Amino acid sequence: MSAIANPGFELTELLLHVKELEEQQLDLRKSVICAFNQLLDLKDISTGVHSTRLAEWAVRVAREMNIPENLSYQVEVAALLHDIGKIGVPDAILRKPGPLTSEERAIINRHPEYSWSILRLFSGLEQASLYALHHHESANGTGYPAGLKGPDIPLVSRIISVIDSYDAMVSNRCYRPGLPHREAIARLLQSSGTQFDPDVVQVFIPIAEKDTAEVFAAAGTSMAAVL
Ligand SMILES: [Fe+2]
Repeated sequence: MSAIANPGFELTELLLHVKELEEQQLDLRKSVICAFNQLLDLKDISTGVHSTRLAEWAVRVAREMNIPENLSYQVEVAALLHDIGKIGVPDAILRKPGPLTSEERAIINRHPEYSWSILRLFSGLEQASLYALHHHESANGTGYPAGLKGPDIPLVSRIISVIDSYDAMVSNRCYRPGLPHREAIARLLQSSGTQFDPDVVQVFIPIAEKDTAEVFAAAGTSMAAVL
């Protein structure tokens, strides 16, 4: 059928083509994000798995805190790739077993800015890049890089801060075993209001109680192997 005989035909073709291009773009973006996550795995074997679990935790907490569904992709990517900037930190510092000097600490503390500078280059992920930039801010303003305080810190960054600390505490590291769940929760409560947003801590605790096994399974890890 020609377009002259049926002008609607050309429009339908065009719309199909646009849809196809949109799907291709989405696929490409997903692949790039997966590749970046893989990169984290190569840099430090436990980091990639840790990030995958964070994406799971983040979406669950964000839903509970009524963050609009249309932001859930940004939340997921920010949680998954918030530490991508660590690839800019020399291995000698990142993997140093002993205590860090203040210069080395200052270099590590640049990683949220590096994460921001990478993620902001993805078109459509500007929001996620800001969430990653502020994931080490503290509720009392003593965090970095900007020293933001309380509600000035983006809510998603406050969520990432809590779940990042919890997941890191309960995970085994080569130099120390993971903490039991109870102890990790006690530490979150201890720093609630200073390091952590108290509302996020309160929302997260029942999720951690209920969903831990599911989150570890979704990230392809077993609690027995990691905890
Ligand atoms: Fe970090």
